[in-house]
Amino acid sequence: MIVGKHAEHKQLESNILQISQDAKEMKKKHKDLIDATVGMLHHDEGNIFKFEVVEDLLHHLSDSDIYAYAPVRGPKAYTEGVFDWVFGPYADMIDKQFEHCVIPTTGGSAAVSNTFYNFNDFGQKILLPNHYWPPYNNFALEANVKLHTFLMYDEDNNFNRVDFAKEAKKIANEQDRLTVLLNDPCNNPTGFAMTEDDWRFVIAELNKYADKDIPVTLIHDIAYLDYQSKSTEESRKIFSLYQELHPNVLAVLIFSGSKTFSMYGFRVGAQIGISKNPDLIDQFERVGDYSVRGRFSSVCQSAMNIIGSIFTKDIYKKRFEEELVEARKLLKSRAELFLEEAEKQGVKTLPYRGGFFISIETDNQNIYDDLVEDHVFLIPMKGLIRVAISSLNKKDIPILVNKIKKNI
Ligand SMILES: Cc1ncc(COP(=O)(O)O)c(C=O)c1O
Repeated sequence: MIVGKHAEHKQLESNILQISQDAKEMKKKHKDLIDATVGMLHHDEGNIFKFEVVEDLLHHLSDSDIYAYAPVRGPKAYTEGVFDWVFGPYADMIDKQFEHCVIPTTGGSAAVSNTFYNFNDFGQKILLPNHYWPPYNNFALEANVKLHTFLMYDEDNNFNRVDFAKEAKKIANEQDRLTVLLNDPCNNPTGFAMTEDDWRFVIAELNKYADKDIPVTLIHDIAYLDYQSKSTEESRKIFSLYQELHPNVLAVLIFSGSKTFSMYGFRVGAQIGISKNPDLIDQFERVGDYSVRGRFSSVCQSAMNIIGSIFTKDIYKKRFEEELVEARKLLKSRAELFLEEAEKQGVKTLPYRGGFFISIETDNQNIYDDLVEDHVFLIPMKGLIRVAISSLNKKDIPILVNKIKKNI
């Protein structure tokens, strides 16, 4: 074996990007093929949803804005802009009550990956819901940690507080550390969003362990924060609840420039650390900067400059916000049509509250191949299939629902 022992089990399974390539290949031969695999926002006509303001800025960058190495911590316009954008009306509150630090990363992916790596001992477990974005498995194996799930839904399809508390207790007692990962709102793959009361409950549980001096890290993956069917202000309401966080909790928010700005290929994102305990933020900064340098050096200069300009110049920000409203409208109209059609045809979806994906439970182990036979590409996951409404053409929705009904 030429690979090291720790790498023996590395094998990309159900690789979403690969499945999506396969779908594109097959589409060349079969015009009726429906591809709802990858989480990138597209227009109905199949072209990617670009923000015109991003496009304009991209074509007016100076040579040094494009070609020079970016500093590990990125330009201030980017990091401060990301902070203000993410927390919106709560940015002042967070600034006053918490220490904080924004570390640019190559997409939200690297933000998750570095957080897994630095805030756990090797072999430790991270708690997350049983429906989750599969690449978390890859980040976990790379970081030498394990994933441990709780049931996302209770019998009424609400957030399963009981199971969350039970599994959190198990892990905290077993390993004297608790790291929780919640991808909310607009969970990938289900489109679920926790209520404010769910968040209150989760924070109270985390606080219990922090109060016993157990290190607690909350990884809050907000990749789809801007794609709820809510205004930017409304979608930030959950951050008001952060006020209740115990001083010894470290919250790490995962920001994705891919989703917020449709800049998927640029690889831009950030790890936002906040805590009421300055010592935890000192540690966050120290290991965060180190891992950026040690794992990917620094982040795409042009992307950070584009985003920095949008956040610092009112005219650009206004244009961006207007375009974002259009993006949300596009997604909302597709989601509404899909859910209506599903109800009409008797296909039961998991509760959807926003974002790029809708999921349907299935017992068919062969669902992926059966759908491909029927010229449909979706992403199969444990017990369900995921429909990326972000890349669907509205006119295909009734046909798609019908083919799903036939094969689940
Ligand atoms: C749940 C979730 N988190 C984070 C990301 C990060 O994406 P990126 O690395 O492109 O920013 C994605 C992308 O699909 C996602 O679905």
